[in-house]
Amino acid sequence: MTPQLLGFFDSGLGGLTVLRRVLERHGAVPCVYLGDTARVPYGNRQPDDIRRIAAEVVGWLRDQHVTTVVMACNTTNALARDVAEGQAGVPVIGLIGAAAAMVETHRVGVLATPATVASSAYRASIEALHPGSVVIEQACPAFVPLIEAGDINSEDLRRSAQAYLEPLLAASVETIVLGCTHYPLLVPLLRQLLPESVQIIDPAIGVARQLDAVLGPPPGISAIPSSFSLESCRFCVTADPDGFAMRATPWLGQRPSVSLQLLQD
Ligand code: DGL
Repeated sequence: MTPQLLGFFDSGLGGLTVLRRVLERHGAVPCVYLGDTARVPYGNRQPDDIRRIAAEVVGWLRDQHVTTVVMACNTTNALARDVAEGQAGVPVIGLIGAAAAMVETHRVGVLATPATVASSAYRASIEALHPGSVVIEQACPAFVPLIEAGDINSEDLRRSAQAYLEPLLAASVETIVLGCTHYPLLVPLLRQLLPESVQIIDPAIGVARQLDAVLGPPPGISAIPSSFSLESCRFCVTADPDGFAMRATPWLGQRPSVSLQLLQD
């Protein structure tokens, strides 16, 4: 198989939840990760702005000679997939179709950024694959700023989560899709607030599976060390590399080495 270099991007920490799933499944795949921390959050921005940013970050990944772009960000996936495909010049893998393929119940809740919810991309994708399903999308504007602030155990986060889950629970959803890559960091909190019967879908698991087509079948559990390695990954952010490295450590289980990459704005 030809050597691969995967290019991941997100507004900040969220895409690491996708990167981790990929490394857990495929082992030490060469990767470049760009966290656009100077412009986080994306999900509270206007569509034009999101499309302009997507063109810029994917253009940067193309200049790094990546062989596949992984859109580790639902907001750009929902609003600028065509922009990413136009800029990348290589295959682009996204989250939303992968998530829709994982849905197995009739009543589905989606937690996502305001921009993703306003685009209705999740609803359209789930309804196309599962006609007749009931899809309720809930915007969660407070989540990304609170997660990026670094305290995922804060009372503010718990209160916000309770408020965002209320309409989904009132609608008796059987599944909740985490429609923003930051939200898997909240799974322990969400699990406390949800009945056991409600399934949580992390689209990143589907993305890691989709990458089998590019990377080949996974090497098998015994071939991947139990703690995954970051040695094949290069991490860049557009602001505050030290803060990013510190906040990424609990999720990655090790402190990544992170460099500053200035992009135009
Ligand atoms: N993590 C990204 C997403 O999946 C972006 C969140 C944001 O910056 O608002 O939507």
